[in-house]
Amino acid sequence: MTVARGPEESPMEGKVALATGSASGIGRATALAFAEQGARVALADIDSDGGHQTLRLIRQKGGEAVFVRADVTRAHEVEALIDEVARTFGGLDYAFNNAGIVGTPSSTVECTEENWDQVIAVNLKGVFLCMKSEIPLMLKRGHGAIVNMSSIAGLVGIRRNIAYVASKHGVVGLTRAAALEYAQAGIRINAVCPGFVRTPILKLDTNPAMERHYLAAEPMGRLGRPEEIAVAVVWLCSDSASFVTGHTFSVDGGLVAR
Ligand SMILES: NC(=O)c1ccc[n+]([C@@H]2O[C@H](COP(=O)([O-])OP(=O)(O)OC[C@H]3O[C@@H](n4cnc5c(N)ncnc54)[C@H](O)[C@@H]3O)[C@@H](O)[C@H]2O)c1
Repeated sequence: MTVARGPEESPMEGKVALATGSASGIGRATALAFAEQGARVALADIDSDGGHQTLRLIRQKGGEAVFVRADVTRAHEVEALIDEVARTFGGLDYAFNNAGIVGTPSSTVECTEENWDQVIAVNLKGVFLCMKSEIPLMLKRGHGAIVNMSSIAGLVGIRRNIAYVASKHGVVGLTRAAALEYAQAGIRINAVCPGFVRTPILKLDTNPAMERHYLAAEPMGRLGRPEEIAVAVVWLCSDSASFVTGHTFSVDGGLVAR
């Protein structure tokens, strides 16, 4: 990938994009994709090493970015992140609220309260807190586009992942509610619902046997690549999606078509 240079090749030139959970996986791929479109990118994550690695990757390709360490479960850290974005780049056009965890897989009965609270805090409350701080900044500009990270687990049930499934269904709900609230204010809010994508979250390094299970679920017989989700997020943010809001966009190799 190289960062686009010509005006026709940089449709997001002069725009500002924020991606949470961008130290790794889908968030990193999307941050790189925003930069490739010419956007200046704010990276946020609790993983500073990974975040700085994404920063280097963008800068190596001639892009402009900043990394802010922020835990999306903490309101004051999210507020400080958005303040930093405003200070550094003067505003916000696109936000990808992507940070997430799977938690500990278990049956519903065995799911601990701690696991439930942690998964809901990162995947659901984190998205809410980010939107709560991002929207006022977008309202100042009179426009904006937000993409919230849901999952196929936001559309269908998955056994032994009650908190994850609930959190991702919750993301679909809050996306729809907020999309209605801001539809006339020029802010579009959508959710992306990936199938199984090859990233560290699947823990295939430590549990390679799980790959067979994921492949069996995927109609295409392969896992998705982070870049295949990134292009969908960038499209949802772009002017090409100007009449798309409150939508849940599956990018899942056909998994929920079963
Ligand atoms: N990979 C998949 O198969 C898949 C499928 C559907 C949805 N998703 C969702 O995609 C998102 C990104 O996951 P990924 O697959 O790229 O995994 P990943 O583990 O590579 O990336 C997740 C990132 O989120 C960050 N993060 C975790 N908790 C955080 C917090 N409290 N504050 C800020 N950052 C935090 C992590 O440090 C990490 O960099 C998640 O929300 C995940 O649920 C992934």
